[in-house]
Amino acid sequence: MRYTLGIDTSSSDTLAGVVIDGKTIASDINTSRLKHPAKTKVSEFQDLSHDHLSYIGLVVEQAVLDAGITYDQLDAVCVTRGPGLASALETGLNFAKGLALGIGKPLIGVHHLEGHIYSPRLAQPFKDIEFPALVLIASGGATEFILMRGYGQYESIGGTVDDTVGETIEKIGKVLGFNYPAGPLMEQAAHVGNAVAYNFPRTVRGDEPQLSFNGLKLAVLSEITVASTGAAPKKPAAGAKRQLRADVSVNDVSASLQTAICELLSKRTAQIAQKTAVKEVLVVGGVAANQQLRQILTKQSPVPVRFPPIHLCTNNGVMIAAAGYAYLENGQSDSLDIGALTLWPLAELQSARQQSVV
Ligand code: KG4
Repeated sequence: MRYTLGIDTSSSDTLAGVVIDGKTIASDINTSRLKHPAKTKVSEFQDLSHDHLSYIGLVVEQAVLDAGITYDQLDAVCVTRGPGLASALETGLNFAKGLALGIGKPLIGVHHLEGHIYSPRLAQPFKDIEFPALVLIASGGATEFILMRGYGQYESIGGTVDDTVGETIEKIGKVLGFNYPAGPLMEQAAHVGNAVAYNFPRTVRGDEPQLSFNGLKLAVLSEITVASTGAAPKKPAAGAKRQLRADVSVNDVSASLQTAICELLSKRTAQIAQKTAVKEVLVVGGVAANQQLRQILTKQSPVPVRFPPIHLCTNNGVMIAAAGYAYLENGQSDSLDIGALTLWPLAELQSARQQSVV
C-alpha cells in the first residue's frame, strides 16, 4: 500500500487528505472541521496566508492521524502549486517542502484543476477513466470543457464566454438573499419551488463548444428585481442598484433558475460529447454537487456521466493526493525549489512539470 498526502491552500480553506494507492480515501480534513479560531486581524491578503499558516500544521497532522499512519509511512507529499493567490499557495508549498525534506520523501506539485479531474475516480467502487473523456469543470472559478485523451493530457476545447456558472449562481443568489455559497441554498429552495413558474432562457445556439450565462442572468434579474428608486426598467443598466420585487417567490425563482442552468449546461455538454465521440463525461467542481444537474445530464448524455462523491465536489486535499499519486506511480516528482504558479493554464501543465521534474 502506498500513501500520498495531499495539501491544498489555493483558496481560503486549508485542506489536507491522505489517499491509499490513489484510489481509497484514508482521511479528509479541512479547516472548518478543526474550528480553530483565527487570532489576529490583518489585511485581506495577509489574512488568507495568515489563516493558512495558523491551520496548516494542525490540518496536516490530523490528516495523518485520521489515516492511522505515521509521517514515515507517507510515500509522497503532494501539494497544490497553482493556480491561485501567491501568498496562499506559497504557505502550502513551503510547508510541503519542509515536510518532504524532513521525512525524506518526494515532493509532487499538483495543478488544482487536475486534482478536481481526479475526484470522480475517488467514487466507490473504483473505476478508471475511459479515454477519450470529456471533462466539464463547473465551478465558481471556471466553466470549461476539456478533452482528455489520457492521464496528464488535457486540451481545453471551450467554455463560458462570460460569467462562470458559479458566478451566475452567486450574482443572482445575492439578490435572492443567499450568502456565499448560494448554490446549495438555491438547491434547497428549489426543492419546494415551482420549476415552471418562470420560463428563463436556456437556448443553446449553434454547435461551438461555448456557453454563455449573461443572457440568462440579465433575463432573471430583469424579471425579479426593480431599480432601488422605483419601477423596473426593461433592461437593468450595468452596475445599477437593484432590489428583489416584493411579489417574487424565492423558491419558485430558485427552482426555475436551477432548471434553466442545468438544462443549458446539460444540452451543450451532451452535444459536445456526441461530437467528440468520447467514451465518458466527467463533471467536476462545486456545481457538480447539484442533484438536478446530475439527473438531467445523465439522461441527456449519449455516454455515461461520472461525478465525484458530493463531499469531494468542493476543494479538498484528497483530490490533490490522488492526482499526485499518478505522478509517483510514473516515477515523477518535483525538485524542492519549485515555486507557486499563480496563473497556470491546464494546457501548460506538462511543460511546467517537465521543467521541474527531478
Ligand atoms: O469549485 P468550487 O467549490 O470553488 C470555486 O471555483 O470557487 O465552486 C463553487 C461554486 C459556488 O458558486 C457554489 O455556490 C457552487 O459551486 N455550488 C453549487 C452547489 N454546491 C456548490 N451550485 C449548485 N448546486 C450545489 N449543490
